[in-house]
Amino acid sequence: FGPYRAPTNDTLMLESVSLNEIAERYGTPCYVYSQSALLQSYQEYRDAFQSFDTLVCYAVKANANLSLLRLLAAQGAGFDIVSGGELFRVLQAGGDPRRIVFSGVAKSEREIDEALKAGILCFNVESAAELQRLSERATRLEMTAPISLRVNPEVDARTHPYIATGLRTSKFGVPATTALALYRKAQKLPHLKIVGIDCHIGSQITTLEPFLEATDKILELVHQLAAEGIPLEHIDLGGGVGICYRDEDPLSLSAYATALKPRFNQFQGRLLFEPGRRIVGNAGLLLTRVEYLKTIPERQLVIVDAGMNDLMRPSLYQAWHEHEIVPVDAPRKTDQKVDIVGPVCESSDVLGTGRTLDVQAGDLLAILSCGAYGASMSSRYNARPLIPEVLVHGSQTTVIRRRETYADLIQHELS
Ligand code: LLP
Repeated sequence: FGPYRAPTNDTLMLESVSLNEIAERYGTPCYVYSQSALLQSYQEYRDAFQSFDTLVCYAVKANANLSLLRLLAAQGAGFDIVSGGELFRVLQAGGDPRRIVFSGVAKSEREIDEALKAGILCFNVESAAELQRLSERATRLEMTAPISLRVNPEVDARTHPYIATGLRTSKFGVPATTALALYRKAQKLPHLKIVGIDCHIGSQITTLEPFLEATDKILELVHQLAAEGIPLEHIDLGGGVGICYRDEDPLSLSAYATALKPRFNQFQGRLLFEPGRRIVGNAGLLLTRVEYLKTIPERQLVIVDAGMNDLMRPSLYQAWHEHEIVPVDAPRKTDQKVDIVGPVCESSDVLGTGRTLDVQAGDLLAILSCGAYGASMSSRYNARPLIPEVLVHGSQTTVIRRRETYADLIQHELS
């Protein structure tokens, strides 16, 4: 369900719609998502782990568009949230609060209260201080807070340092060495109910080993807890499964499931996951048009109308996204190496470097694998209105977020 070339005229298509048509109709830059690709990758998770009692909690931060959340909610998905705003979005989309887990190191009193009142499945607690606050808030509201400790299993996810979260020095989770003591403390605090254990070691992980290493450390703790009379209802192994951006060979979910099976023989409870990128990453692309070509002695620049404010990943993580010319109307030579840059006044506003793309001004480009951490990380930097998001389903296209206007830019400011 990814983009493909039409056999007749070689134009890039998504489902049954030509990307040219979408650009003409909705303008550029513009995010485009495939509904089938989204639902297929969610289903792939469900299928791979069907022999477990599994809840797949989609990590909302990857892409929080209401329509996408609604599609997933309708499939019975759970959600991993990290803010009151994400809770609001999931509830607006019809998500079941009893399938929501709440992660994040800085949950505020307000956010905790909102989640308690909504009746979420579990708070993934990231510090002793948060445990204390949760107990206080739950006591005040005369409610019970269901909790997991997010344990840092101290494994190297072998990914970009900005998206590795399971190292000893990480701000996330509690060290495995202090987890038992914290669980004992949680047992004594009023209005808390221990329901699980959680970990998340990083993102865009393409091999199985770090996941299995983390799982084994978590299971060790689960057994120690059971021995102390603290049984758990669920184990949450987080998200982080990578996708193919360039030439990565992402791990197979069924291999993951097969490797987990014998490890979970002893455990009766539910298995939770928090995938974001794997669900939505390859379901989206960014359409952008070439404004200018510019030659300087050292570089051939292709200046496009999308910038780092629309897609931050290449500037922030030197992330690679494939760029494809949408219509290929004439055979072109492809030996020229270009850098694709955006309009933003920052040298780091680069969307791709060293690409062999023979483009002209006016050409339409598709930047692939932008469904995750694309729109959700975008900003209005340089007073650039947020760009639209379009959902494709078969031959149907729906604007699921409209393009902002200049008026939108100033609507919350005092004149
Ligand atoms: N659970 C927790 C607690 C997380 O912090 C994250 C992502 C996920 C689940 C989902 O991870 P995923 O399955 O998507 O890898 N902006 C970066 C990625 C940051 C990930 C932050 N946490 C990027 O564009 O690569």
